[in-house]
Amino acid sequence: MAKTLIAFFSRADENYFGGAMRYVKTGNTELVVNQMKELIDADTFKIEMKNPYSPVYMTCIEEAKKDLHDNARPELTGDIGSIDAYDRIVLAYPNYWGTFPMAVATFLEAHDFAGKTILPLCTHEGSGMGKSESDVKKYAKGAEVKSGLAITGSTAGDAKAKVSKWFQDNGLL
Ligand SMILES: Cc1cc2nc3c(=O)[nH]c(=O)nc-3n(C[C@H](O)[C@H](O)[C@H](O)COP(=O)(O)O)c2cc1C
Repeated sequence: MAKTLIAFFSRADENYFGGAMRYVKTGNTELVVNQMKELIDADTFKIEMKNPYSPVYMTCIEEAKKDLHDNARPELTGDIGSIDAYDRIVLAYPNYWGTFPMAVATFLEAHDFAGKTILPLCTHEGSGMGKSESDVKKYAKGAEVKSGLAITGSTAGDAKAKVSKWFQDNGLL
């Protein structure tokens, strides 16, 4: 049976929800990942930065913008090691300035995706997938990248039906 890994980036703390700032304990993308785990049998790996972005939203957006402009590869806290055991990877991340956070590029470049399928999922506050799908193709050498699913961040707690349909369309359910 095909083995699935859910690799994701998500930031808690202060975020912007449809007009208001709010502190949260679990980030939007992680909320969606938690619903995925109720639907499929998969291992999970959280992509975490050694020097995480600020809990303060306005500071975080500037730090993330600088990393994007510098084409940075932020150091991660840990590595999953080999991904050989997995046939497909659900890659979930927030939209940061039109693409994924640069820590996701660090993760993608550290592994060999030849022969693997990647399903990208992006939470966002209006920009959808942005250019993240083409960036996944750029950084995950050799992977077959499926059409992604965009979830509005402020509805992330209620994404199970959308994720379930997407999983069905791609043969995970
Ligand atoms: C640094 C930063 C940049 C962002 N840039 C965008 C953007 O360009 N387009 C967009 O729709 N949302 C943007 N957002 C909103 C996030 O994509 C959205 O809140 C997402 O659901 C956050 O996921 P998380 O809570 O899992 O980290 C940005 C948020 C942050 C913190």
